Amino acid sequence: MSEIILSIETSCDETSVAVVVDGREVLSNIIASQVDVHQVFGGVVPEIASREHLGHISFVVDQALTAARLSLSDITAVAVTHGPGLVGSLLVGLCYAKGVAYGRRLPLFGVHHLEGHLYANFLLPTPPTFPLVCLVVSGGHTDIIYMERHGHFRLLGRTRDDAAGEAFDKIARVLNLPYPGGPHLERLAATGAPTIPFPRARLEMGSLDFSFSGLKSAVLNHIHNSQQRGEELSPAVVAASFQAAVIEVLVEKLIEAALTTGVRNLCLAGGVSANRALRSAMAEGAGENNLRLFLPDLGLCTDNAAMIGAAAYYRLRSGATADFHLNAHAVLPLTSWAVDNGDNSS
Ligand code: KG4
Ligand code: ZN
Repeated sequence: MSEIILSIETSCDETSVAVVVDGREVLSNIIASQVDVHQVFGGVVPEIASREHLGHISFVVDQALTAARLSLSDITAVAVTHGPGLVGSLLVGLCYAKGVAYGRRLPLFGVHHLEGHLYANFLLPTPPTFPLVCLVVSGGHTDIIYMERHGHFRLLGRTRDDAAGEAFDKIARVLNLPYPGGPHLERLAATGAPTIPFPRARLEMGSLDFSFSGLKSAVLNHIHNSQQRGEELSPAVVAASFQAAVIEVLVEKLIEAALTTGVRNLCLAGGVSANRALRSAMAEGAGENNLRLFLPDLGLCTDNAAMIGAAAYYRLRSGATADFHLNAHAVLPLTSWAVDNGDNSS
């Protein structure tokens, strides 16, 4: 029997609901974005975000079911992001998911947001095989995760300060680009040459950690100094040079992670993995080192519920259900849930 999972993602400013069959087939993936509402504030306002989720969740669930040509009675399990994220926002999705699971006597699955991002790779026509290393680059995280099988996560490296997406958003802001800055900065960068030698933080030998705060300060100093000297500044050149500095380190560390662990499969995940310059630089690096690179569809890089439904399927296969004590967490470590049943198939 097929598992038809209704999945809900409300960790930040997107109300998203999907219907995913057997962790592979996305029947619908509705994303109601709040970008317009938060744009005037230059960032997400948590209180407004949770109210917006509350106003949209029922409608988005209906839309997801309609688009999948199904009704609630066809659903066999419910999945929801329970952290990390904005607690008020997470609670809206969580309460709705619990309500559906309780009302229809369905199993409930709590999915870690980063686990969801990672599992966007398993929605590819040819999913990755294990072992793999995945670079999760989002607004709040820059992590390198090693997986030897489903539900088994080992953190190899992480940012010690800003996340890559956060750095994109902050630099975009000083360049007067709209929120969220990442995609706008990417477009601007495509029109300039990366000629400013901004610093690359390499940290100590052998570390797979990242640091972007020094780069961020260097870019801010460059902008302020140019303004003080009355020099004409090319925002496109600044954007291209900043982006090149971020990408160089991301590519270098993921390849190093693969080479030191002896893994041949590389994955990208999270909002920043929608960046085309990053995707092509990573593809080039993978090719040069004879590694296989998996890139989620562009629409599945940023927050969406399909990735949550994909991740939940593998929890379901192992019986890693949640109970009704499942809570929302602003901070939530990515812990392994795999039971050692030798299931390392994709
Ligand atoms: O994964 P995501 O949608 O939400 C979080 O979990 O944080 O990632 C959002 C982040 C934002 O910082 C956004 O600016 C960045 O991903 N982002 C990009 C691009 N698209 C989204 N950064 C660089 N280039 C892009 N094309
Ligand atoms: Zn995300």
